[in-house]
Amino acid sequence: MRHFFYLFSQFNCEALILFEQCFMYASKRLAVSLHDTVERRALLHFAKEEFAHTQAFRRYLRKESVLGFPQKSLLVHRQHRLKNIFTWILRQEPLAIMIPGAKSETYSLFYTKLFEKQFGKDGNTFTRLHTLHSEDEVHHVQFDYNFADSILAKRSFFGQLKFIFYTFLMMLFIQFIVISGFGHALKELRPHSSLWFRIKSMRRIFNWVLWSFNPYIQTRRSLKATYSQRKHFMYKFFLLGSL
Ligand SMILES: [Fe+2]
Ligand SMILES: [Fe+2]
Repeated sequence: MRHFFYLFSQFNCEALILFEQCFMYASKRLAVSLHDTVERRALLHFAKEEFAHTQAFRRYLRKESVLGFPQKSLLVHRQHRLKNIFTWILRQEPLAIMIPGAKSETYSLFYTKLFEKQFGKDGNTFTRLHTLHSEDEVHHVQFDYNFADSILAKRSFFGQLKFIFYTFLMMLFIQFIVISGFGHALKELRPHSSLWFRIKSMRRIFNWVLWSFNPYIQTRRSLKATYSQRKHFMYKFFLLGSL
């Protein structure tokens, strides 16, 4: 069970590092093209906060992890080709990280609450780290949506379609990374298990996360509420995707 908790924390911290690096890369690219100095300053401040978070998560993984991070990683830490695909998508469309990134931030806020309830705010390093992280993240989620809306409002119809296309591409690629990350985590947990056992276990874990794990259910509910309140037509697509 302890090993399972470490894998869970490693998986989530690595996922946050990945999203935050994408946010940093996208924010810096967008900031260059912005004329409005207030928007540019807000974006650079946002990137600075995400940089501080990635440093904190890396420090945690180095100190606490059972896997020996950074030599061993569940997601893309040592996979330069996969990282290059992320940067390629973000070069085509820096805003492509906004929707999946806001989802991961919302999810991290909900599971932090669960861990705080379970272990207390000072119960363990993972919870303490996430409690501190959520103090910034709680402001980021709205910022992501408002920022994406304000940029998209200035774009042509085709510019908005481009955003939708690359956001879905990003979502698909993230799904692939998450599924292969789950596969690596199961291999760590049961190194001698067969491929068939891992596929079956993965299906069970996914079903459990999607339909029984409260933070995920709360995230889905919160996204549906956010998407149905927002006016831009693209949210109708994401509403379908969040079912
Ligand atoms: Fe963050
Ligand atoms: Fe964030």
